[in-house]
Amino acid sequence: MSLFITFEGGEGCGKSVQSRVLYRRLSKLAVPTLLAHEPDGTPFGKRIGRWLKWTEDTDIASLTELLLFNASRAQLVTGVFQSNLEKGKVIICDRYADSTTAYQGYGRGLDLETVRAINDVATQGLEPNLTVLLDMSVAEGLARKKGRKQDRFEQEALAFHQRVREGYLKLAVSDPRRWLVIDATQVKEKVAEIIWQRVSQLLSSYGKRVS
Ligand code: TMP
Repeated sequence: MSLFITFEGGEGCGKSVQSRVLYRRLSKLAVPTLLAHEPDGTPFGKRIGRWLKWTEDTDIASLTELLLFNASRAQLVTGVFQSNLEKGKVIICDRYADSTTAYQGYGRGLDLETVRAINDVATQGLEPNLTVLLDMSVAEGLARKKGRKQDRFEQEALAFHQRVREGYLKLAVSDPRRWLVIDATQVKEKVAEIIWQRVSQLLSSYGKRVS
């Protein structure tokens, strides 16, 4: 049994917290689980991610972002995910290819077919079994990050973040079996419980007892 679960959403939506909560819950139940964060999931990805978030170059092409996020993803899928899925582990990933579709596709305005094609090359067709979208208004999400130094993406205009949010919602509507959309303004315990309901169902359907 292997299972691949991704977390997606705009800035400040709480995905990192929720992916860690799920990881701890599965680990407590002795379900072999790996937690990764894109683009930091490998040493190579970490360097790329840091550069993409913090470079002071002002002329980074959207296509360069698309290729670099996917270079990092190719390394993660090839070097980490494939072998762990073969071992039957549950993989939880905080951001994956849908982030590129939302940010570089809908947000930056790159052609969606091009984004899909490059994403497919990097992921080698590895699709999540479940994608959790933590949805909230852009203003509320960004307000949660106030007071911290803002990276290149967080500094983008509200309209960019709005396009990212709408992009995510369109993706979710196009594949409701894979996506679980949650109102991320609810208290974090409630959000965690909704996620757990779905994950435990999925695990049971794979024949794994989780209660
Ligand atoms: P975060 O997940 O720590 O918030 O930071 C990752 C940032 O990088 C976030 O602003 C979204 C952005 N990003 C993309 O634009 N495209 C991608 O494919 C990925 C993985 C992240």
